Amino acid sequence: MKKKILVCGAGGFIGGHLASIFKDDKNYELVCADIKPKEYWFQIFDNAKNFSLDLKEYENTLKVTKDVDYIFNFACNMGGMGFIENNKAECMLSVLVNTNLLRSAIENSCKKYFFSSSACVYNALKQKQTFVSGLKETDAYPADPEDGYGWEKLFSERMCRHFSEDFGLETRVVRYHNIYGPQGTFDGGREKAPAALCRKIILAKKNNLKQIDVWGDGEQTRSFLYIDDCIKGTLDVFNSGFSDVFNVGSEEQVSINQMIEMIEEIADYKVKRNYQLDKPKGVRGRSSDNSLIEKNIGWKPNHSLKEGLTKTYKWINDQIEGGTNIDKFSKSNIVK
Ligand code: GDD
Repeated sequence: MKKKILVCGAGGFIGGHLASIFKDDKNYELVCADIKPKEYWFQIFDNAKNFSLDLKEYENTLKVTKDVDYIFNFACNMGGMGFIENNKAECMLSVLVNTNLLRSAIENSCKKYFFSSSACVYNALKQKQTFVSGLKETDAYPADPEDGYGWEKLFSERMCRHFSEDFGLETRVVRYHNIYGPQGTFDGGREKAPAALCRKIILAKKNNLKQIDVWGDGEQTRSFLYIDDCIKGTLDVFNSGFSDVFNVGSEEQVSINQMIEMIEEIADYKVKRNYQLDKPKGVRGRSSDNSLIEKNIGWKPNHSLKEGLTKTYKWINDQIEGGTNIDKFSKSNIVK
């Protein structure tokens, strides 16, 4: 018997990549849902059943979960620091998506539910230095997450736990640490640092400009996870017997300045940096501790940051140099 899989947020970055894994697999029937009009989906597959609708509405979640075995929920209103710092209410409204999907999963007797959480759930006090120890899953408590977006993710994690405890729904939850790669937003306000800085250096080189804008002083640190590693980690956790929350991130902690140096090498073009201290900066330092997922699931990333950035840079360059559908990756702020 074929299993029916629902990918929510399939028109977005991670959802699109996850859907692409199942699209040609004869063991699965693929259903995709996203709030964006279909022409704005980052990837769309003809052999899937595709729904463009608002998953904040209960009747819509009931409709798309009908006869579904497995639900992957990537649907949320999100972006890089420039978006989440200025759209806290919009980010928190995504709680309706997760809540209604969970209710519908029970109503329609779905078998397993995956929720994509974020490193933004971690306690701010643990992220005050530039280089920090990797964040362990237990560092989310006592709770002091990123305002708006982080609170929604932490609340929704708990909602999954309680639906599992109270109603017997099998759930899987991972915390993504800044996922990047091809087919992701690179302009328009929702882009994260890797795509934004690739775009800025590509445009500087193309237009012979000597300087780019950088948010903050460039000494803040992050770890960034390449999309293929993210998808593998997602499936490994989903297929495992563990219902604990796991980090899916990289332990390669770099400052934004160090990442810019890598992109300069890839571009073979050097730029001066105009540090914009008034722009959204987020936490001072953040990185993943993967000991729990390595021990229990056996997953760890395969791509170094340099390898992932090389592929991402090439893809963004191709889009800027006249690839198709630039708008959908840059004007993705049509999601309400
Ligand atoms: N977006 C962006 N654009 N960030 C820049 C830029 C730029 O041009 N220049 C420097 N930065 C700096 C930001 O100020 C921030 O300090 C750092 O790069 C990382 O920014 P983002 O990639 O936008 O976000 P983040 O790492 O703080 O949070 C992201 O990852 C979380 C998971 O780890 C967000 O996407 C969150 O939504 C996500 O949960």
